[in-house]
Amino acid sequence: MPVQPTWDVSQIDYRAIVNDWHAVCLSSEVEEDKILPIRLMGEDLVVWRHDGAIHAWKDYCRHRGAKLSLGWVKGDRLVCPYHGWEYDGQGQCRHYPAHPSRTPGPRSRAYTHKAEERYGYIWVCIGEPKGEVPAFPNWLDDDYRKVSAGPYVYQANALRAIENFLDVAHFPFVHADLNGDPNAPDELETYDVNVTPEGLTTSEIKVFQPYGDHRGIPVTAKYAFSCSSPTTAYFEKKTGDTERFCTLMMATPVEQNKCIVRLIVAINFGEELTTEQILKRQDLVFNQDRRMVETQRPHPLPVNVRDEIHLSSDKLGVEYRRWVQRRAKDHDLSILTEAPTVDA
Ligand code: FES
Ligand code: CO
Repeated sequence: MPVQPTWDVSQIDYRAIVNDWHAVCLSSEVEEDKILPIRLMGEDLVVWRHDGAIHAWKDYCRHRGAKLSLGWVKGDRLVCPYHGWEYDGQGQCRHYPAHPSRTPGPRSRAYTHKAEERYGYIWVCIGEPKGEVPAFPNWLDDDYRKVSAGPYVYQANALRAIENFLDVAHFPFVHADLNGDPNAPDELETYDVNVTPEGLTTSEIKVFQPYGDHRGIPVTAKYAFSCSSPTTAYFEKKTGDTERFCTLMMATPVEQNKCIVRLIVAINFGEELTTEQILKRQDLVFNQDRRMVETQRPHPLPVNVRDEIHLSSDKLGVEYRRWVQRRAKDHDLSILTEAPTVDA
């Protein structure tokens, strides 16, 4: 690795997510022939776009370690600001300005990563992706209106943020007078968690919401969660025969203990609700969650399930922790190490 990440790559939480897709920014933040510096998993990356294609590379020039994000796009190439090396869309250097007749060798390559555009966001994997960008089943369904919310910056581990999203028992307390009543918390029934190598899904989890479903109508909501990457989770909430309120939550791991939470809400009712009303409620909820998640200790998620005390309502969290731990064991880190080289 050219520059050591600030996050110890041997940590379980790092290993569990290094081969996953992470939503790093809105598609609209990277315009044609523009460069955006971003931070992901303790490293600086540069994201740039040419001819519509998205590139995500380490923000690092192979010559002398300058930041490519300080450079510019010239034709279909990214130019390093220091000595003007020109890298093509595959990351191969094509031109050394100090030696214009020389053909750059195969080792003069930027460190490239895989990038995809999905759901209005750019997703990057700094390892080897094992699968697709996490599914968002409502995205192509026109019956659902979509609203992007966030970003919410949490000084917290991304896995803590996702576990919070998967936890319904905190609603009456953290979201008092919004999503439950702290003086009359609902007893939670047991539910099933289905675990496969691809991830977790739950049966419906019933939660009485005295203040209603965005329209102020008291309702027993039924949440079905799914999680196909430790940093991306989804729920479908049924609040009536046909009413569905769904959320894709993306917790982008910026550093070990800093993440950016982004959401896409998909809703098939409440035409009268304005986008501002929907966003205001999400802002309120995720800022309430932030206070808890930022102050949990230890900051990383304790994946050893003996480290904390669990109740039956924590079943999803327990299975999530076990799954994260298994993924960390499975993942190969050898792709992240490479010997130094010269273009001889
Ligand atoms: Fe990039 Fe020299 S450091 S061209
Ligand atoms: Co919450």
